[in-house]
Amino acid sequence: MKLLNGKEVSAKIKEDIKKEAAEFTVQSGRKPHLVAILVGNDGGSETYVASKMRNCELVGFESTNIRYEADVTEEELLAKIAEINKDDSIDGLIVQLPLPKHIDPEKVTEAIDYKKDVDGFHPINLGRMQRNLPCFIPATPYGVLLMLDHYGIDTSGKHAVVVGRSNIVGSPMSILLARNSNPGNCTVTLTHSRTKDLKAEVLRADIIVAAIGKKNFVTADMVKDGAIVIDVGINREDSTETKSGFKLYGDVDFDEVSKKSSWITPVPGGVGLMTIVGLLKNTLEAAKGTIY
Ligand code: GUN
Repeated sequence: MKLLNGKEVSAKIKEDIKKEAAEFTVQSGRKPHLVAILVGNDGGSETYVASKMRNCELVGFESTNIRYEADVTEEELLAKIAEINKDDSIDGLIVQLPLPKHIDPEKVTEAIDYKKDVDGFHPINLGRMQRNLPCFIPATPYGVLLMLDHYGIDTSGKHAVVVGRSNIVGSPMSILLARNSNPGNCTVTLTHSRTKDLKAEVLRADIIVAAIGKKNFVTADMVKDGAIVIDVGINREDSTETKSGFKLYGDVDFDEVSKKSSWITPVPGGVGLMTIVGLLKNTLEAAKGTIY
């Protein structure tokens, strides 16, 4: 078993981003600027946004975190997005999901100028991604592609099985792996909660992408010998063992599955760190104007 080491890969790519950001700053007289809007105080979302902001600083970006109470109106949020869309000093805008129930995430996603949509969630970016046109690719699937690319893993002709069809990970991941590009050119099966014999589907996979949000969901009996296993799960459980007060678990039973896999990502230290890299790369592209 070989480890797809998110710590190592993300550190290396972030060094490259840092250099490019410094060049951009010299040439333009300003830093790439990411704004993240966080609504409410969901523990996971707070951690993710704090990490995004910290990583922006690390690579020499400017970052702004705008916070709202959970009872902010949809109208107020949309007004702020419209204001940011018009602000030339801001390159990228993300609204951390999930949002409180009274706010429609589709409305919010479509309100963001697709040229600043560094999450790649806007239908224009999604459509362009499907057509293999320049676009912002959602950060987590982008991070997975960068990881596969870094290790020189040839995905062409392989059977990829994606577990979970979320807008954030599973759905875009399935599109990207099927595209005529590298990494890509896979035969893709997208499985979800209504899939009939999930185990039989996953057992056929040369590449498994687990993005279902359930601790240890993918067990060794579901995995073919030699499979490449990408674990996107970040499941938090309270713990007295760690300083943070919680412990992270993937969607894959790492201890058992790693005995069968050829390559596998750990949790933590795998895809989570690559998500940040995807977001930083998109923000740099937005600043440089190389996509739009
Ligand atoms: N919630 C979980 N993942 C993400 C992400 O990549 N972007 C945003 N905006 N919210 C998320």
